[in-house]
Parts: sequence; C-alpha cells; structure tokens
Amino acid sequence: MSTASMTLFHSPASPFVRKVLVVLHETGQTDRVALQTVNLTPVSPVAELNQGNPAGKIPALRLTDGTVLHDSRVICEYLDQQHVGNPLIPKEGWPRWHRLTLASLADAIMDAAVLTRYETFLRPEDKRWDSWIDAQQDKIRRGLANLEQEHIAELTAVFDIAAIGVACALGYIDLRMPEFGWREQQPQLAAWYAQVSQRASMQATDPSVT
Ligand code: BEZ
Repeated sequence: MSTASMTLFHSPASPFVRKVLVVLHETGQTDRVALQTVNLTPVSPVAELNQGNPAGKIPALRLTDGTVLHDSRVICEYLDQQHVGNPLIPKEGWPRWHRLTLASLADAIMDAAVLTRYETFLRPEDKRWDSWIDAQQDKIRRGLANLEQEHIAELTAVFDIAAIGVACALGYIDLRMPEFGWREQQPQLAAWYAQVSQRASMQATDPSVT
C-alpha cells in the first residue's frame, strides 16, 4: 500500500523536477511522494496544476493540507528539513551561501538549456531568434567553464544541493542538446559527472530511460 502523503506534479524531462527527485532519493523520502505527470509547455497550461500555483510551475509539491510549494528551490529546501540525515543544504554561515550560489549557477545553466529547447523545438521555425539561442548557449558555456576552472574540488567533496543541480543540468544538456559537445572542453567535469551518474539516485531518475 502506498504511504505517499504528498503529490509532486512533474514532467520527467525537466531538470528542475529531476533535482527534486534526486533529493527525494538521496534523503530516503521517495515513499512520501506520489508522482503526477503533467504534459506542460509554456503555451499549453494544465488547469489542475494552476490550483494553488497560479504561475503553473513544475515542479510543484502539493502537501496533505492542499498547500502547494513551488519552485524547485523551495521544494528542495522543504524536503531537506524533513529528514534526519546529513543536510543537503548547509543550514547556516558561509557554506550555506556558497553552496546555494553554486546551486544557482546550476539552475541558470538549466534555465538556459530549457530556453534553448523551447526556442529550437517549440517555436515555429520562421519565428526563431538565432541571437537568443546563441546567447543562451554562451551562458551555458561560461557556466560550464567556470565549474571546470573553479569548482571541481567542491563538487567532488559532497553530493549536496549544488552537486545535484550541476549533475541534473549536465543530464539535461545530454538529453536535449546531444550535439553540444561540452566534455572536450571540461574533462574534469566530465569525469566527475561520469562518476556521480552511477549513484542510485541519478540512475533511478535518468530521463533517457524513464
Ligand atoms: C523538456 O521536455 O525538455 C522539458 C519539459 C518540461 C520542463 C522543462 C523541459
């Protein structure tokens, strides 16, 4: 019998959803959440998702009392306060701001990759804006270069909210931008990603097999 008390509105390909799913796995809370898939794009809203979540964001987590939490940052912080293991988000001090800033960089890379996807997949071809796509891809390249040059040791140290975010961002680039070719320029990041991809939480949430 299911013991799920919360509902996660999700789309399997979303890297922001995957981040929440990985947090659920890493903190042993998967049984607490039932998954409800929504087929959402920016131009096709889903009525049920909009209840308590007027911007219609995914991921969104509906609690037992009907309250809806969004977005992925808020949900991850909430879930991290619901378990007794090592926190995935440092509770205070400089480590907190440092790891959250690294997590924010990961989110920005995801954002740019998702916007690229929308522009190249959803938008009619005659309305596409090449400079926009180039600017998003430049943002991704700058982000990945920064991770390679300055953050490999921190990523390797602990699989926390920052590392989870980076891993999900790289997974999404591989899924939706397979020609992007980031590994040659970022060999240390590629080696780190190959390693963390073996984690049970990453394997269980791999969008290419779900
Ligand atoms: C995708 O299919 O790439 C996608 C779906 C939902 C949110 C973000 C991305």
